[in-house]
Amino acid sequence: MKILIVYGTTEGQTRKISHFMEAILKDAGHEVTVSDASETPPPPSSYDAVVIGASIHIHKYQSAVVHYIKHHIEGLNKKPGAFFSVCLAIASGLEDEHKEARKITTDFLEEVGWKPLMVTQIAGALKYTEYDFFKRLVMKMIAKKEGHPTDTSQDYEYTDWDAVREFVKEFAVKIKIQPVASGTEEVTY
Ligand SMILES: Cc1cc2nc3c(=O)[nH]c(=O)nc-3n(C[C@H](O)[C@H](O)[C@H](O)COP(=O)(O)O)c2cc1C
Repeated sequence: MKILIVYGTTEGQTRKISHFMEAILKDAGHEVTVSDASETPPPPSSYDAVVIGASIHIHKYQSAVVHYIKHHIEGLNKKPGAFFSVCLAIASGLEDEHKEARKITTDFLEEVGWKPLMVTQIAGALKYTEYDFFKRLVMKMIAKKEGHPTDTSQDYEYTDWDAVREFVKEFAVKIKIQPVASGTEEVTY
């Protein structure tokens, strides 16, 4: 099948996750195109299924992803799709943080009107060494609130790669059985 992966990223983790998904789908025999939402991705119409990912920054996703989904909403809702949200809150041990992250995703999908087959939350990374002074300060505050390390001399990656693998494999199975859009299922691994 022809699968399109569109991602929005600010510090690169969602791009890394997208390329990891690409490798898994290609291994399974699919034809995959990966595109940065800020670089005018192709329309969904040329593909059998679409995966879109974005990361949360101050409770919001990248505007290029919002724009892509809104612009192609009719086409997207005719195809089987999956949305993955990348953030730090989901790596927290605090259930309230998870709830908040899930709410951001639900509200977002409702606002743009997209009904993907599958939705999941993926833990991102704390890249202290790559942040500028202001970002480092904001992230140290967020990290403290969510119980993450505040030692800014190193980076921390929380992405559960096995869970990402499970998610795309499940999606690849679903699109064979349900090659059209239907209700959204939220999945956790
Ligand atoms: C300035 C800034 C603000 C952030 N705000 C949030 C937030 O509101 N909630 C959250 O869970 N994670 C937040 N994060 C964490 C990012 O979602 C996480 O680092 C993710 O891995 C970024 O993915 P990306 O590299 O693809 O942009 C923030 C990160 C930065 C640098």
